[in-house]
This record gives sequence, C-alpha cells and structure tokens, in this order.
Amino acid sequence: MKHMNIALDGPSGSGKSTIAKELSKKLDILYLDTGAMYRAVACKAISLGIDTLDEKGVSSFIDDIDLKIEYLGGTQHAFLDGKDVSSRIREPEVSMAASNISSLKCVRLKMVAMQRDIAKSMSCVLDGRDIGSFVLPDAEYKFYITADAKVRTLRRQKELKEKGFDVDFDQLLREIEQRDYNDKHRDFAPLVQAKDAVLIDTSEMTVEQVIDKILSFIERK
Ligand code: DC
Repeated sequence: MKHMNIALDGPSGSGKSTIAKELSKKLDILYLDTGAMYRAVACKAISLGIDTLDEKGVSSFIDDIDLKIEYLGGTQHAFLDGKDVSSRIREPEVSMAASNISSLKCVRLKMVAMQRDIAKSMSCVLDGRDIGSFVLPDAEYKFYITADAKVRTLRRQKELKEKGFDVDFDQLLREIEQRDYNDKHRDFAPLVQAKDAVLIDTSEMTVEQVIDKILSFIERK
C-alpha cells in the first residue's frame, strides 16, 4: 500500500480519537494521537512546578524534553523521561493544562516537528487541531470532525466516568467551551477547518456511520 496520512481535526470530544482508532484498524495503519503529546508536555511542566502559560519557563525545558511516542501491541504510549505517562495524561487536571501549554509557540514548533517526522516515516491517521491546516498541509485526506458542545460534554463525562472520575456536567461544559475558545483563538496554528477538509458533524451519528462516510470518501477519491 502506498504511504498515506489522514488528518482528523476538530474540537475536544467530537469523537476524533474513537474514529481515528477504528479507522487505523480498518486500514491497518498506525494512529497518532497528537493531543497526547501536548498532554505529556503539560505533565512535564506540572512536575517542574512551571506555570503552563509561562512561555519563558516552558521554553527552558521544551527543546530538551525527553518525550517518546511508542507503539505497544499497536497502542500508542507516551514516555516522559523514560516513564510511561499514558494514564497520567488523561487525568482531568492535565486537560486544561494541555490546552494552555498548547497555545505556546515554542511548544507547537517542537511538537509539530516531531509529528512531521512520524508522519513521514509511516502511514498513519493523525488526530489533532492543526494537522490538515498546518502540520501536514499536503496530507492525502483531511476531515474536520465536530459536534454540538453539549453532545461532546456528555461523551467526555461518560468517558471520564468509565475511568473513575465523576465530573459535574455544567463544569465540564464550561471547560470544553473554554478549551474550544483557547484552541480557536491562539495566535499560532489555531484550530481551524482546512479549506480542503471534509466537514463531518457527528452530533447525531454513530461511530460506524462516521467511519463508513470517511471510508467511502477515501475509496472515491
Ligand atoms: O485532543 P486532546 O484533548 O487530547 O488534546 C489536548 C490539548 O492539546 C487540547 O486542549 C488542544 C491541544 N492540541 C493542539 O493544540 N493541537 C493538536 N494537534 C492536538 C491537541
């Protein structure tokens, strides 16, 4: 099969990661969750006691960060300073910290360079915010996955509950709206639908329906 990259961008909770995982299985290519990389950077700042909006503080460690993305049994793991932080990065505290730290240009430049290297070395489905618009403007396929904010909040609440975190709906909705705002309004590489990306609103769609839509688009193109 020829090398291909599929970009899935969109706001938090739109279903991107579930869709990206399924799609990568169906196509037998890897899934690169780029949000996990920003989350790992946020963990590093937290562990150093550096404010996630302090560009000077963050720039003091970002170039030398020991962050590795590895695949164990086909599943992505993030290693920070040699330690597997794949569960830690999903903790609610890290979500807002990741949103903040991802607004810093020094962080984005570092992550984007890593993402481009990975995407060049293998066929993969990448999910993120700026993959089609900035990281891989020449990606073979681009999709912008979105959903109503309340639907996204319900999905995220369910996901967190399954992991043992009981989070209030209204508080989570406020956080999701705040993260949407941050993602769309940062100066450098904000969340935006690439001009050539196919828009899919998943509010009233099942995962299977979304996958079918994407696959039929890929087959047609
Ligand atoms: O997709 P996620 O919720 O795991 O992403 C965590 C944060 O990282 C999110 O607030 C936005 C940011 N992010 C980004 O700015 N660019 C990406 N390509 C991926 C994620």
